[in-house]
Amino acid sequence: MNTIALTAAAPRRFADLPSPRALPVLGNAHQIQPARMHLQLEQWARELGTPYRMRIGPLQVMVVDDPEVAQTVLRDRPSGLTRASMFRPIFAELGIDGLFSTEGDDWLPQRKLIMGSLAASNFRGFFPTIRAITERLHRRWQRAATAGEVLEMTQELIRFTVDVTSALSFGDDPNTLEQSGHVIQDHLAAIFPAIMKRTLAPVPHWRWFKLPADRRLDRHLAAVHAYAHECIAKARARLAAHPGAEPANALEAMLLQADQPGSGFTDEVVVANVLTLLLGGEDTTAHSLAWTMMYLAADPALQQHMHHAAMEALGSESVCTAHEGVRELEVFEHLATEATRLRPVAPFLGLAATRDMVIGEVEVPRGTQVMTLFRPAQISPRHFSAPLRYDPMRWQRGRGHSGDGDAAVHDPRAYLQFGAGARVCPGRHLAGVEMRLVLSMLLKHFEVELACDPGEIDEVQNFTVTPSKMPVRLRLRQPAAQGGVRAAPAGAARCPFGHG
Ligand code: HEM
Repeated sequence: MNTIALTAAAPRRFADLPSPRALPVLGNAHQIQPARMHLQLEQWARELGTPYRMRIGPLQVMVVDDPEVAQTVLRDRPSGLTRASMFRPIFAELGIDGLFSTEGDDWLPQRKLIMGSLAASNFRGFFPTIRAITERLHRRWQRAATAGEVLEMTQELIRFTVDVTSALSFGDDPNTLEQSGHVIQDHLAAIFPAIMKRTLAPVPHWRWFKLPADRRLDRHLAAVHAYAHECIAKARARLAAHPGAEPANALEAMLLQADQPGSGFTDEVVVANVLTLLLGGEDTTAHSLAWTMMYLAADPALQQHMHHAAMEALGSESVCTAHEGVRELEVFEHLATEATRLRPVAPFLGLAATRDMVIGEVEVPRGTQVMTLFRPAQISPRHFSAPLRYDPMRWQRGRGHSGDGDAAVHDPRAYLQFGAGARVCPGRHLAGVEMRLVLSMLLKHFEVELACDPGEIDEVQNFTVTPSKMPVRLRLRQPAAQGGVRAAPAGAARCPFGHG
C-alpha cells in the first residue's frame, strides 16, 4: 500500500467513516441535485465531520476538506490519483477529451501542447486583443449607464470571456459583446449543465437510448465541433500563407506542434483542446468577476478607494493600454481572489485513487473517488483572520493581514481555486490578466450598485458555481470625481484601506 499524507495515528478503515444514509443501488445520488451539489457536500461536512464517505451509484466517494490533505492528493498526480473516473468517458463521448479529462500517457504531451500554446500566445502578443475587448466592454457599459439600464452581469461577463477566450483559442473573435446569437455562446451555454448532469447520473441511459435533451446536446456539440473545424481550416490557411510566421493565437501554436511529423496529435486532439480551453476559460473567469461585483456593490468606500487606484494606474487611458501596466494592477485581481475565497467558483475537485493508499489517516482502496472540498478551509479562522469578512487587502504581497488588529492568519495554501500540483490550472495567468483589466476599467469609470437584495442571489453549480443572477446598475463617475476625492455615500462602511 502506498501512503500519502500519513499521520502518526493508526489508519482508519474507509468503511468506518461516517456516511449519509444511502439507498441500495443509487447510494446517495438521489440526494444530490446537480445545481446544489457543492452545498449538499458542504452540509454533510458540517453534519458528519470530515472525512466522510458517500456513494454515487457504484462509485465509493471519500470527501475531505483539510487543505493539507487536499494539497497532498492534488500533488500526487498524475500517478497516484486521476480526475474522478466518471469524467473521461463522458468527455470522450462528447468529443472534448482534452487536457482536463485526459489521463495516463496521453496527459503529459497534451499538457505540453496547451502550455506551449498559451506560452506562444503569451500575453504580450495577445494583450492588444484583450485590451480591445475590454474597451468594447467599456463602451457597452457606458451606453448602459447613460441609459440607466440594469445589466445582468452574469451575461455581460460571459460575453466578455467568450470573446477573449475565443479570440485566444480560435483566432476568431465572435464579438458577442456587440452581436447576439453567436453559435459559440449559445451552444456552450447548453453544454456545461449537460456535462454536470451526466457526471452525476447513476445510470448512463444515453448510451442505450437518447431523450430529447440528449439529442439537443448532440446538436449543440455538432455545431461547436463544426465551428472548431472551420477555425482549424482558417488557421492552417493563414500559416500556409505566412510560412515561418509566429503563431498568432493558441490554435495556430497548437497546429504548429501537431503538424510536426510524428507528433501523434490528430485534428480531433486539437479540437478537443481548443474546446477544453473554451470550457475551462469562460465560466470560471466570468463568474469570479460576477461574484466580485456583489462584494464591490456592498462597499462604496472600497469602490472609492479602488477608483483612486485605477485613476493612478490608468492615468488618462480608459483601460490599461500596455502589457507592462498589467503588473501594476495586482490589487484589482485581489478583489476577485477574495470574492472567490468566500464564493468559490470551483468549490471542489473530484479525483480517483489509482492504487490502495492512505489519505490523511484513512486507508483508501484503489478506485475510491476523493472529493476535495475547498470552501470550509477558505472560510475557516484557522486559515484566514476574520474569515467571513470581504477584505481584499489580505492578499497584498508581503503583508500578513490582521483584520482590525487580530493576530494575522493568512494561509494562501488553503485557497485552492486553481487546484495544485502538476495539473494546476494552466489558464490562471490569463484569468488574472482579464480580471485586472475588467476591474480596473470598471472602477475607474463607474460606481457599482446591486439592483436586488444580495440575499436573493443563490449559488448554482453548472460545473462552476454561477450566481443565479447579478443585476447591476452602473453609474458613470462624474468627470470632477475622476480627478479628485469624492465623499463616500452616507452610511458607507469605513474604507478598509484607510480612505473615505
Ligand atoms: C478564475 C478562473 C479560473 C479558475 C477558478 C480555474 C480553475 C481551475 C481548476 C480548479 C482546475 C483543476 C486544477 C487541478 O486539477 O489541480 C483547472 C484546470 C484547468 N483549467 Fe482552469 N480555471 C480558470 C481559468 C482558466 C482559463 C482562463 C483557462 C484557459 C483559457 C483554463 C484552462 C484550464 C485547463 C485546460 C485545465 C486542465 C489542466 C490539466 O488537467 O492539466 N482555466 N482550472
